[in-house]
Amino acid sequence: MNKQTIALVGGTGSLGTLIGNAVLDKPGVQLRLLVRQGSRDKVAALEKRGAQVVEGALGADAGGALASLCQGASTIISAVQGGADVIIDGQTHLLRAARDAGVKRFIPSDYSLDLFKVKPGHIPTSEMRRQFALVADAERGDVEVVHVLNGGFLDRGVLFGFIRVIDVDKRTAYVWGDGKQPMDWTTYADTARYTAEVAIDERPVPRVFSVAGDVLDFEGLVHAYESGSGKKLRVERLGSLEELDARIDELQKAGPANLLAYLPLMYFRSILSGEGKLDELMNDRYPSIRPTTVREYVVKEGL
Ligand SMILES: NC(=O)c1ccc[n+]([C@@H]2O[C@H](COP(=O)([O-])OP(=O)(O)OC[C@H]3O[C@@H](n4cnc5c(N)ncnc54)[C@H](OP(=O)(O)O)[C@@H]3O)[C@@H](O)[C@H]2O)c1
Repeated sequence: MNKQTIALVGGTGSLGTLIGNAVLDKPGVQLRLLVRQGSRDKVAALEKRGAQVVEGALGADAGGALASLCQGASTIISAVQGGADVIIDGQTHLLRAARDAGVKRFIPSDYSLDLFKVKPGHIPTSEMRRQFALVADAERGDVEVVHVLNGGFLDRGVLFGFIRVIDVDKRTAYVWGDGKQPMDWTTYADTARYTAEVAIDERPVPRVFSVAGDVLDFEGLVHAYESGSGKKLRVERLGSLEELDARIDELQKAGPANLLAYLPLMYFRSILSGEGKLDELMNDRYPSIRPTTVREYVVKEGL
């Protein structure tokens, strides 16, 4: 039997490595990776599991490498991170190469809250992905473009780190507004598993494919942590959502280039206000995956 070939760009990254492994877990699938010069060591474990490597980077002069990557592939998965040169221009070159090679499906590097509903100006990284989605709609030809959305990552690095709804060391949970809005959280690993399922699915997949491991309001999140860890959290109410807007404006004006000073708050605002809430969750499409809840993650990680 001919193996289905799935090509992945960004397979050296945090999410990309997990996607690569999730694809390799599926029987009858060949994984092909685009890897930048100097980054090959990072995919040694995937290569050991049988992944093929094409050396190259996303960019205007990547033509030959992108054609080799896409040749005979059924799906291209992107899990890259970067600025507009990567997310808009780089992924556009990749999509064109996929279209020219007759690839069936393309999964761009989104993996976020509902970036299509986030207001213009609210999150610059969502803005870039929306711009790419517009290009993709115009240029995809017969390629099925599927945006995988998963809310925020439920892991140490994001829910308990970058966005820091809960600071485990300080035993404190933070909220702006009334916290009554349900929020979507999914682990990196579950997002990777759903992405692998979308990649190999022989049926048409909706343009936006949304999943969540857990949907909780702020009180529910605090309860999930407390019951999973057996530890009590102090709750710090930081102000109204209008005060959060003002805080973001202030930080942005103080240092526009210092994106990391205000980007986490921008994500938190879109989560707490509900503008980034995922609409219809499609977990049921792949019933073999039972995604991890916040409580389960806290227990498993000993948080
Ligand atoms: N929902 C959430 O809470 C959440 C949180 C974090 C991230 N995300 C999303 O998840 C996705 C993956 O993020 P991540 O944290 O896994 O990223 P990451 O660990 O920083 O990995 C980025 C990947 O992109 C590759 N890359 C960058 N520029 C490239 C280029 N020009 N050509 C080829 N490859 C290039 C890197 O390759 P090298 O190894 O060669 O540098 C690396 O493999 C992104 O879309 C990100 O926005 C979502």
